[in-house]
Amino acid sequence: MKLLVIGSGGREHALAWRLARSPAVQKIFVAPGNAGTAAERLLENLPLTDPDELADFAERERLHLTVVGPEAPLAAGIVNLFRSRGLRIFGPTSEAAQLESSKDFAKRFMVRHNIPTARYATFSDRSAAHAHVDRHGAPIVVKADGLAAGKGVVVAMSLGEAHAAVDRMLPESGRPAMATAARVVIEEFLEGEEASFICMVDGRNVLPLASSQDHKRIGDGDQGPNTGGMGAYSPAPVVTPEVHARVMREIIVPTVRGMAADGIPYTGFLYAGLMIARDGSVKTVEFNCRLGDPEAQPIMMRLKSDLPNLLDHAVSGRLDLVEASWDRRVALGVVLAAANYPETPRTGDPISGLPRGAEDFHIFHAGTSERDGQMVTSGGRVLCVTTLSDNIRQAQKRAYDLILGIHFEGMQYRRDIGHRAAGR
Ligand code: AMP
Ligand code: GLY
Repeated sequence: MKLLVIGSGGREHALAWRLARSPAVQKIFVAPGNAGTAAERLLENLPLTDPDELADFAERERLHLTVVGPEAPLAAGIVNLFRSRGLRIFGPTSEAAQLESSKDFAKRFMVRHNIPTARYATFSDRSAAHAHVDRHGAPIVVKADGLAAGKGVVVAMSLGEAHAAVDRMLPESGRPAMATAARVVIEEFLEGEEASFICMVDGRNVLPLASSQDHKRIGDGDQGPNTGGMGAYSPAPVVTPEVHARVMREIIVPTVRGMAADGIPYTGFLYAGLMIARDGSVKTVEFNCRLGDPEAQPIMMRLKSDLPNLLDHAVSGRLDLVEASWDRRVALGVVLAAANYPETPRTGDPISGLPRGAEDFHIFHAGTSERDGQMVTSGGRVLCVTTLSDNIRQAQKRAYDLILGIHFEGMQYRRDIGHRAAGR
């Protein structure tokens, strides 16, 4: 069978790489892909991003199914389009993708269905937002309402930071919005440890994937600005069997039932960002309508089941008939980011020293492309060095040893990926 993966990041490289390991697969097209997917066995990059052209291609090539990586094409309705043309695709419709694309939609949904989350209020008026901040005090969280790749969120530890965030995200009364959103969501600050809980959903049934944990801040010790994610590992020990059961019962099942009850059945990967308190209670920080990046890299490294078969069941609404099995080892991925990431990443730096993958590691590409026969950086997050080892410390050591051989000008990475699990 021939399959299509839409996207060009590390998540899509990991998905396509895992799909290609299935004996049933002849070819995986990755649109548009990157220099890593271009070099991989059975993978072929397809220089297309237009949804109609992708659908034409899927039809012409009689693709078995398509799986979508990033949120933007989902929010723009690529699943609606493929389905209207009778093409098999795994992902949420644009209506269902609002769980990620609109924080306000997600919040109202959670309140309506009693799904635990931080208390919040939504504002489009600046002075009302400032007054709310003053009433509640810091720490407090200010979020732009719209897709912002994890960068539209300010966790303000002081009142000054909170007010500055409101000014940045909301226009002065009577002026057009400068930022992506003309609304902000202001939230109660949650304390605890975060984890990523990602499932496959077919509208009714849920297949949870292995737990994982991301590292959102640019700097060691979780300092500095938020990024798309600087590294991840799986499993996340904070997700104990008790926490897992509670997340399924209190968050995932009510979400899938609630979406169906609201007439917007959810299909696709569903990602709940969790805050787990010391007493084991859980709250939803956010939903994403896709796999996490970089969480997908360690998760795909550990997946032992045949991925095309799981996707097949998901697209046919039969996830109740399958289970996923996981490598018992720990997988850990360290992101190597470009100079000036996350603000204005520099591109075009030559990359050298990349090792070939082996049974216990793989280098997933994100912002890479080829220029005159040389591999160069072409995005903020460039590579994700992902290892598989018996325990977290060995996985860390292996990843950081591999990184010593890899070079590009201005390369930045965190030295402490996995610190929470290692500290337990
Ligand atoms: P989001 O884009 O909503 O996931 O927010 C990005 C990051 O901001 C999260 O991963 C958290 O680290 C942090 N964050 C968001 N909301 C809260 C909250 N209510 N309390 C504490 N931290 C938060
Ligand atoms: N790594 C977090 C995300 O994919 O949103």
